[in-house]
Amino acid sequence: MTTFGIYAEVALMHLLLKVISGGDPTTRHAQYAFTEVADECRHSTMFGRGIEKSGVPPYRVPLWFRALLNLATLLPIGPATYGGTLLVEELLDRLQRELVADENVQPHIRMINKIHVLEEARHISFARAEVARMVPKMRRLPLAAHRLSLALAAPFLVRTMIHPDVYRSVGLDPRQARKTARANPHHQRSLRWMGERLVAFLTEAGMIQGVVTRALWRRAYLL
Ligand SMILES: [Fe+2]
Ligand SMILES: [Fe+2]
Repeated sequence: MTTFGIYAEVALMHLLLKVISGGDPTTRHAQYAFTEVADECRHSTMFGRGIEKSGVPPYRVPLWFRALLNLATLLPIGPATYGGTLLVEELLDRLQRELVADENVQPHIRMINKIHVLEEARHISFARAEVARMVPKMRRLPLAAHRLSLALAAPFLVRTMIHPDVYRSVGLDPRQARKTARANPHHQRSLRWMGERLVAFLTEAGMIQGVVTRALWRRAYLL
């Protein structure tokens, strides 16, 4: 998940740099974006060091997923882009808070998570504020397109968080293990718990509504 985090941070940095170059680069808005990129650079370096020290190989995301992330950075900035950011940041945030609190977790891992939770807090507030600011200004059709793209991204993002090689490394058949995990009600409950606050926020913000959208969020086990 830490390796996955690095890829997600890189995609987010692309978006933030686009926010800067797309408008007036001297505004407070742009300065905030610079600050967030700096935060992400710093803790992505920390993640890399943590993985290196752990002696566990990085679980690199599949090529198709990297291509998808690159594609996402070409899309116009809107509620779906910030919603996608929240999808990664808020889901992982909930899990990381548990890791920080759990005394059975190795101390360095706990500290890495603690530092990340602290630095992410303002990122989450910013992305939420951007979603809330952008949605009311959008026309019906573009908003529906943003809603749908975010809902399409949800199952992919959730599925990619745990790399199949994680199962292989403990002697399980990745395909079978993933299938078993996905059918496990406890796994599904955990995912719903991770997404609880985000889903409530996005629903209230008008980013989760309609039959198709809700079905896709259910497919990601977040609803
Ligand atoms: Fe981060
Ligand atoms: Fe962040």
